[in-house]
Amino acid sequence: MTNPDSLKALMAAYQERVDAALTQRLPVATIHPTRLHEAMRYAVFNGGKRIRPILAYATAKAVGCHLDRADGVACAVELIHAYSLVHDDLPAMDNDDLRRGKATCHRAFDEATAILTGDALQTLAFYVLSHDKNFDAPAKTRIKMIELLAAASGSRGMAGGQAIDLESVGQQLDIAQLEDMHIHKTGALIRASVMLGALCQSELDSVIFRKLTHYAEHIGLAFQIRDDILDIEASTEALGKTQGSDKAKNKPTYPALLGLKGAKEHAQDLHQEALACLEHLDSNADPLRWISGYIVDRGY
Ligand code: IPE
Ligand code: IPE
Ligand code: MG
Ligand code: MG
Ligand code: MG
Repeated sequence: MTNPDSLKALMAAYQERVDAALTQRLPVATIHPTRLHEAMRYAVFNGGKRIRPILAYATAKAVGCHLDRADGVACAVELIHAYSLVHDDLPAMDNDDLRRGKATCHRAFDEATAILTGDALQTLAFYVLSHDKNFDAPAKTRIKMIELLAAASGSRGMAGGQAIDLESVGQQLDIAQLEDMHIHKTGALIRASVMLGALCQSELDSVIFRKLTHYAEHIGLAFQIRDDILDIEASTEALGKTQGSDKAKNKPTYPALLGLKGAKEHAQDLHQEALACLEHLDSNADPLRWISGYIVDRGY
């Protein structure tokens, strides 16, 4: 198989895998309170790319861990991500109407339900990490995972990045400030996805763990740069979210600062740096290499 074919098949397999794992872990919509449970499922099962679970699985595989052990972390990172999108779309934040080709959660339900949906998805992520049946690691490892995901999601991670994003509307940020915003709002959870996947293997060498972490830092930043580029270049139909939303809201972005060409070059440089971090890993890390390439070339 060529790389694109292998990557496509791998992504499809991991998407299917995490969807099955999420289906088991989310309360069914008929359970009381039904409107909230319906909204939670609506926000999760609506065609996301599942890049964070894919990274968790691909990392677990790269370090020789059985994928059963990674189902919990794959679900946890996607639950945090789904929560972050529900809140990101709220009128008080980006005020967007379209997400993954459908009405945003607050549009399909109502604002209060969307806020609670985000809250409940976030807490479910930590419940899953603390309870996963297939993950037979010592309590110490689970606590480490919970600590890591909490740090990546909170005020020093994703939520902090979102705060910087909101404060920066209409501002002219320099490259260091823009990088800081992107590293927090998007990079932190992508980094956590790789680190949690790696922690599924309890015997992991600390040098490899550090290299994987650096790999994740590069692709995490590249991911948001590509998101900024797509907001300009892709169609609303392809994106499943309203094209031009950043410009309309006067958001500082990489293309706004570096131009489209400069932003693309920067993303490519990050891809090369990510690959360099994997230099000493064998072919089990190939999926991580392909994912890095996919991140900077993806069309939505
Ligand atoms: C969109 O994330 C928001 C960012 C953090 C850039 P994704 O592009 O991963 O969104 P889905 O999950 O595929 O819809
Ligand atoms: C969102 O960034 C980052 C999150 C933590 C959700 P964006 O606001 O650029 O994401 P989209 O473009 O709405 O998906
Ligand atoms: Mg936003
Ligand atoms: Mg947004
Ligand atoms: Mg965006």
